Amino acid sequence: MKFYMIFSRAQRGLVFAACLLAVVLSASSIMAASASITKSEYGTTADGEAVDEYTLTNANGMEVKIITYGGIVTSLRVPDRNGNLDDVVLGFDNLQDYETRNPYFGAIIGRYGNRIGNASFSLDGEDYTLAANNGENTLHGGNKGFDKVVWTAEEIPGDAEVGLSLNYLSPDGEEGYPGNLDVTVVYTVTDDNELRIEYSATTDKPTVVNLTHHSYFNLAGNGSGTIYDHILWIDADRYTPIDAGLIPTGELAPVDGTPFDFRVAKAIGPGIRSNDEQMIFGRGYDHNWVLNREEGNTEMELAARLYDPGSGRVMDVLTTEPGLQFYSGNFLDGTLVGSSGGMYRQGDGLCLETQHFPDSPNKPDFPSTTLNPGDTYESTTIYRFGVD
Ligand code: GLA
Repeated sequence: MKFYMIFSRAQRGLVFAACLLAVVLSASSIMAASASITKSEYGTTADGEAVDEYTLTNANGMEVKIITYGGIVTSLRVPDRNGNLDDVVLGFDNLQDYETRNPYFGAIIGRYGNRIGNASFSLDGEDYTLAANNGENTLHGGNKGFDKVVWTAEEIPGDAEVGLSLNYLSPDGEEGYPGNLDVTVVYTVTDDNELRIEYSATTDKPTVVNLTHHSYFNLAGNGSGTIYDHILWIDADRYTPIDAGLIPTGELAPVDGTPFDFRVAKAIGPGIRSNDEQMIFGRGYDHNWVLNREEGNTEMELAARLYDPGSGRVMDVLTTEPGLQFYSGNFLDGTLVGSSGGMYRQGDGLCLETQHFPDSPNKPDFPSTTLNPGDTYESTTIYRFGVD
């Protein structure tokens, strides 16, 4: 029996109108799913400073939460191969833990990412002494690095992407570093499921700068166990071996024939228990890879790819930086209870920190980290999520 025979003309008109309405409604709901940014109160620091949390969401539902304390990414939810969202970064569920016991979960790191040997360096004939907060060395900016200050935030609305611009003015002499350093970090979430991080800084005295981001990723989900089954690829023929204090020796050593060879993607786990002296110094992977790029080339390039076979999640790391610190969460020791509700143990997350090489201020042959007045420090890194 045919359509026009069952229904009257009026009924056919009604059906047509209903169909038209459905089409219009679904089109407008697709259009409504544009990126968004919202703000809420997160807490108050021990010093009485108010901290806000911003939630950046894209049209696919990817959601990143960032607090103004330390510019910390507290949660990063991305889809797995079945479209299920999960938080893929380690974190805490309260400000007090971030203030008192954070092993740099999700934070902006500065002024100098990673270590400077003997907590000192010379620049233009001046000697500078820094805080020795890691044995005799300085680590991640000192006692109160950029991970422990409250940043001024400005929303950057948009349709295909939304951003959060964070600014901090680090005064001359802070943690021993010279120059008033005006730093801006812009986090952007795009409809291509990217978290883009753009760093810029200017100074009024010659100084050194090396900014990075310290999320601990677990693509199977925060609190789901170790990252030892994750498959990692790093575009690097060489790495910078370290001494027992985790300071680079200055050598750029070939990865060939070592556990540090990730030129063909492989699981992280097996190498961790290697008796290679470098692995013993790091208690696992905690090294800087020399990315394959021409010296001085600051084009955005694919540096690494991380894949979790279980969930199908893939994370590409693209950067303008010459180095990548791969840290396999070696110091997580079961003393922290995280935002997953469970306790974090060794290897429960890994960091892929784009950077200039550790201890560059004392290694004249490494790419320079000097920033002079009149120049602008610029660096961009993208963490791009997909599935396979
Ligand atoms: C970096 C360092 C590690 C460790 C972590 C933070 O990745 O290289 O040695 O200090 O930060 O715990």
